Amino acid sequence: VNDHSMLPSDVRGRRPMRIAIGILIAFGAVAAIVAFRLRTDGTGSVDDGPTFGAPIADGGAAAPEPRAGAISVSLERPLEEPEPPTGGFVGSDACAPCHAPIVEKYRTHPMWRSFASIDRAAPIEEYPSDPVAPPGPRRYRVEKRDGKTIHHEIMLDRDGKPIYDQEFEVHYAIGSGTRGRSYARFDHGVFAQSSIGWYARKGRWDLSPGYRPDGHARFSRRLGDNCLYCHAGRTSLSDSDERYASDPIVEEPIGCERCHGPGQEHVTLRTSGAWRAGVVDPIVNPKRLEPAPREDVCNQCHLEGDGTILRFGRRHPDFRPGQRIEDIWVAFVSQGDNVVSEGRTRAVSQVQQMRASRCYQASEGRFGCVSCHDPHFEPPPDQRTAHFRDRCQACHGPSEGQRGCSLAESDRRARSADDSCIECHMPPLPTHDVPHTAQTDHRVPRVADAEPPDSPPAHQDAFPIFDGAESRLPRREVERARGLAMLRQPIVTSDPDLVRGAQRLLAPRLRMIENRFDESFLYGVERDVPVLLALARSFQLLGDAPRAEACFDAALTIEPASERALAGKLLDAQASQDTGAAHALLNQLLRINPLDPTLHGQKALVLGQMGQWPAACAAAEQSLRLDPSEPIIRQFLAEAYDRVRRPELGNDHREILDRLKGVVTPLQE
Ligand code: HEC
Ligand code: HEC
Ligand code: HEC
Ligand code: HEC
Ligand code: HEC
Ligand code: HEC
Ligand code: HEC
Repeated sequence: VNDHSMLPSDVRGRRPMRIAIGILIAFGAVAAIVAFRLRTDGTGSVDDGPTFGAPIADGGAAAPEPRAGAISVSLERPLEEPEPPTGGFVGSDACAPCHAPIVEKYRTHPMWRSFASIDRAAPIEEYPSDPVAPPGPRRYRVEKRDGKTIHHEIMLDRDGKPIYDQEFEVHYAIGSGTRGRSYARFDHGVFAQSSIGWYARKGRWDLSPGYRPDGHARFSRRLGDNCLYCHAGRTSLSDSDERYASDPIVEEPIGCERCHGPGQEHVTLRTSGAWRAGVVDPIVNPKRLEPAPREDVCNQCHLEGDGTILRFGRRHPDFRPGQRIEDIWVAFVSQGDNVVSEGRTRAVSQVQQMRASRCYQASEGRFGCVSCHDPHFEPPPDQRTAHFRDRCQACHGPSEGQRGCSLAESDRRARSADDSCIECHMPPLPTHDVPHTAQTDHRVPRVADAEPPDSPPAHQDAFPIFDGAESRLPRREVERARGLAMLRQPIVTSDPDLVRGAQRLLAPRLRMIENRFDESFLYGVERDVPVLLALARSFQLLGDAPRAEACFDAALTIEPASERALAGKLLDAQASQDTGAAHALLNQLLRINPLDPTLHGQKALVLGQMGQWPAACAAAEQSLRLDPSEPIIRQFLAEAYDRVRRPELGNDHREILDRLKGVVTPLQE
């Protein structure tokens, strides 16, 4: 199973934003970064991505590796800042006076219920009195109290007695609940996910997707644009650590303008009477777009790639209908439809499956998502057979020249009483309620239960880009994206040669200067924060602290409050036992993010090293308030209390430790 959990948020998709800050630092484990982690494909065999290194071996593309003195200019020319995205949003309410029927209809669509503040979310959940009991010692309870929604985590000792009961108030529901819901709190500019979610099909609560019973991020998994740009209509602008303004949500659900573009000018033209024949109305009707950008309106959210890298200077919310995916993202996809035999489905989207269908491949752009789906309306269950049959028969009807079903209608009705085209040609896939995987076979197979066509293994062609966008993108952009993507693969970060290969893709200058320390190695990427941070981490992996530092500092020049840069410097300060620097960095980080238990825990440890025991006790207490399950910090605190001659307090913590022993292991990646 692909493990994307360490991917930072500038890989789009539902990758939890697990900045290295927390876990890695807490357990002092630089080793954790370099640890050799093999990815398995779920069958137990090791997927070592045999051709994965290919782009490095051949220098990233067809061109030969440049030699010093023979650098081609195009390689060196830095990427340019893109044009800022267009503005002029008015919100969906502004469309109602003139498009009432569409607005009415669309309000029943799950996309209109994709995100809501908790008090406005349709009440679909149950609130059982029995706690939610996943395997392991943690229990969860959900409570409505004084108009608030509160999730509790309760830790049980070996005798089943509660050790603590921690409350986590949630403010937002993510997901209509058709399949399920996740929950988030917004505090200090940051969205954090609850450990539990509602699973509609099973009708019960359980751990959030990706949370493992034996150790998970509890209430500190950060969510940002990596969730919200697909689920919420519009957010306030966030910084590169995805911290938002105090009023983070501008429009909660996916609104009209996500598919039609900013509406201000259209509304003005149509209200003022200024519109007459000949005036260009900038509102986008996807129907009038070329097939590729038309599909990209849906793809902006429905394309589930293997990892998508934002282009230089881009943010997720920059996409505007009419653009291509590659205007904003470099979207890596494995080839094929990704439906693996034996009934397993890899993380796949309807987009990739549909593109593998005969209907799509043979209809020269006429076939797309809205060939079957009404973008404004999901038919209720009793209408769906007729709705989709209608849609199929637009191309497979009885008229002349159309190719209908080759199975006689009587045979069809013998097996499907209401002659449901989709029952036979778009059967459900065995993914149940796994979010973010197609549940209906969008390959529209001829014979439903036939073996799926052979899918090439993942990464067969190293990092192909969605829809052949390689050829339309500047070469530097492709190299940059490949370099960033590579450094997210454990297989790469554990091999110094591969790390160097990725570095050369990110910073072409490195190809020339080899191992000499040369100030100019950042030429051309000085303003590219994601690249600076990735390079910094790669230098840390290679044990090159001075260059790592130079990269972090360059990033901080552009974004002085970059948590990732500060956290990276912290790692170096700790590695070199520089407690003074570590202490200063921790204070800086805690001013930005006072809710991270591991930062408080780190601070306690550093204060201990500095001999400041009373302050160390206070920091450790704060850490344990935020994460009472953490044994290492509690152990430390017990000893710290002895030092300040409060052994009775120390003993309290020892008692808790004793009860935690054997029931909780430190969070492991
Ligand atoms: C003052 C009335 C008015 C308002 C407000 C309004 N529209 Fe329109 N809209 C029209 C008229 C008139 C047309 C052209 C006739 C038609 O297609 O219905 C139109 C056409 C459209 C079209 C089709 C354009 C085409 O090229 O086919 C779209 C899409 C659209 N509107 C979206 C929106 C959205 C989204 C909003 C809210 C942001 C909105 N409209 C607000 C009056 C309005
Ligand atoms: C802004 C992101 C976004 C865009 C753009 C978008 N979708 Fe969606 N779509 C979603 C999300 C998120 C959901 C899941 C909503 C939920 O159930 O919470 C969804 C759900 C759906 C569903 C499933 C409804 C159901 O029954 O559960 C269909 C069908 C769909 N979208 C079709 C489309 C089509 C067709 C387009 C393009 C015209 C499109 N979407 C564009 C984000 C988007
Ligand atoms: C690239 C766009 C995208 C991103 C990013 C994304 N989602 Fe989704 N999400 C979707 C779409 C589309 C659906 C519905 C269709 C499906 O499940 O394939 C969906 C479905 C869901 C559902 C089930 C909703 C329902 O009832 O059908 C939940 C819950 C959910 N997402 C939570 C999250 C969370 C939490 C994150 C961030 C960690 C996230 N999503 C990130 C696009 C996205
Ligand atoms: C998920 C994407 C999506 C959302 C959200 C969406 N639309 Fe559309 N809309 C489309 C597509 C796609 C078409 C073209 C449909 C076609 O090809 O037949 C369309 C067509 C239209 C048209 C042209 C007339 C027609 O019926 O074809 C109008 C007007 C319109 N939409 C208004 C709205 C309004 C108002 C909202 C918000 C309430 C809205 N749309 C929300 C995707 C969307
Ligand atoms: C926009 C037109 C269009 C729509 C809508 C459409 N198809 Fe197709 N479909 C095609 C074309 C074109 C082909 C290729 C026919 C050929 O090979 O001559 C095709 C082929 C097929 C095949 C044969 C697949 C194979 O592997 O041989 C099946 C089955 C099929 N369609 C089912 C459906 C069903 C079911 C629907 C509705 C859910 C549907 N199609 C909707 C255009 C469409
Ligand atoms: C050939 C017809 C057809 C086309 C084309 C099509 N869909 Fe679907 N889609 C369906 C059917 C049928 C369902 C199942 C509906 C149901 O169960 O009520 C479905 C379900 C979905 C769902 C709900 C989750 C699931 O997999 O069941 C989403 C999301 C979705 N489609 C998105 C898309 C997107 C995005 C596109 C374009 C890339 C697309 N669809 C193209 C027919 C189609
Ligand atoms: C009972 C299951 C069943 C139903 C219902 C059904 N089909 Fe089929 N369809 C089949 C099978 C099986 C084949 C392949 C027959 C063969 O290989 O000769 C097929 C073949 C096709 C083909 C390929 C035709 C060709 O000449 O290659 C198309 C297109 C198609 N169906 C469309 C539809 C449409 C549209 C509907 C709804 C009106 C529909 N089917 C309903 C089972 C079904």
